[in-house]
Amino acid sequence: MTTIGTDIAHAIALLQQGKLVAIPTETVYGLAGNALNEATVASIFEAKNRPTFDPLIIHIADWRHAALWVQDIPEKAEALAAAFFPGPLTLLLPKRPVISDLVTAGSPFVAIRVPAHPMARKVLEALDFPLAAPSANPFGYVSPTTAAHVAQQLGEKIPYILDGGPCQVGLESTIVGFEGDAPVVFRKGGIPIEAIEQVIGPVTVQEHSSSKPSAPGMLLSHYAPGTPLVLGNLRELAAQSPGAKIGVLAFQEPLPGLPAAQQVVLSAKGDFAEAAQHLFAGLRYLDGLHLDLILAELLPEAQLGRAINDRLRRAAAKR
Ligand code: TXA
Ligand code: MG
Repeated sequence: MTTIGTDIAHAIALLQQGKLVAIPTETVYGLAGNALNEATVASIFEAKNRPTFDPLIIHIADWRHAALWVQDIPEKAEALAAAFFPGPLTLLLPKRPVISDLVTAGSPFVAIRVPAHPMARKVLEALDFPLAAPSANPFGYVSPTTAAHVAQQLGEKIPYILDGGPCQVGLESTIVGFEGDAPVVFRKGGIPIEAIEQVIGPVTVQEHSSSKPSAPGMLLSHYAPGTPLVLGNLRELAAQSPGAKIGVLAFQEPLPGLPAAQQVVLSAKGDFAEAAQHLFAGLRYLDGLHLDLILAELLPEAQLGRAINDRLRRAAAKR
């Protein structure tokens, strides 16, 4: 069984022994282990039941040391790092040989990020290796934004969960790579595309690919609850589902006539950042009610609304 606690020294000691620890980041909780230890990296894939073709992000304390792990860093990558690290950004860059093919699933590029959560930073600053850390959920399920979420699904598999409270951002990092010098957003996330474009100009956004994704977070069905989720106009969807036990995930206003306990309102005041914070916990809550159907509505397609809609569409995709 796992322990949940706030003992940073204990987390550091376990990581130094090659063990796995779930750590808080500002985006979602990560399932962390020594990125330079192949046995540890293999155990991350195993604990998550994650296919080894799906590469891991490495986390470092300080961008100034990035050249230890990556090379040929484009100017636009430096500009993004200066603007957003530490924070919810991941850069895809050519790896140095010290990063194993297991971490990158054979790709010559490694995903690297500097997280902002103070506990994650303290842990990373104490270590002399980067941490490989995917989101701390079973492969394909909704990402965890509290320590309790991690314990519910991976508690049997990891000795310690470092509790840093609910995640401030609530969406995974935005992943940016480069084709030559041209920036490509491979995953929408905690840094809005508009903010990225303010720093480096226009970017291409890669929408999901189906069979051979360059980022499996881009798989059509991902981030998915167990209960079927349908997207659209809440009133119309409810009218089309007579007799079904339904739950509702609404942006600002609940659906009249349905008990409040079966509804999650992401942000009554219509704030995208607040909606993002509540999204994954809301999906988990509704999933836990074991209803027939979750009805959800899309947000305006701007700022963090784009990343939230991306997750909702994947959660709704047929498996
Ligand atoms: O916010 C985040 O990024 C969180 C926290 C824990 O840092 N991590 C996270 O990791 O979301 P994960 O493994 O759940 O999602 C990482 C995504 C995957 O879709 C993976 O395929 C992609 O990043 N990725 C990682 N390395 C890659 C690489 N070398 N090339 C292409 N895609 C890569
Ligand atoms: Mg994930």
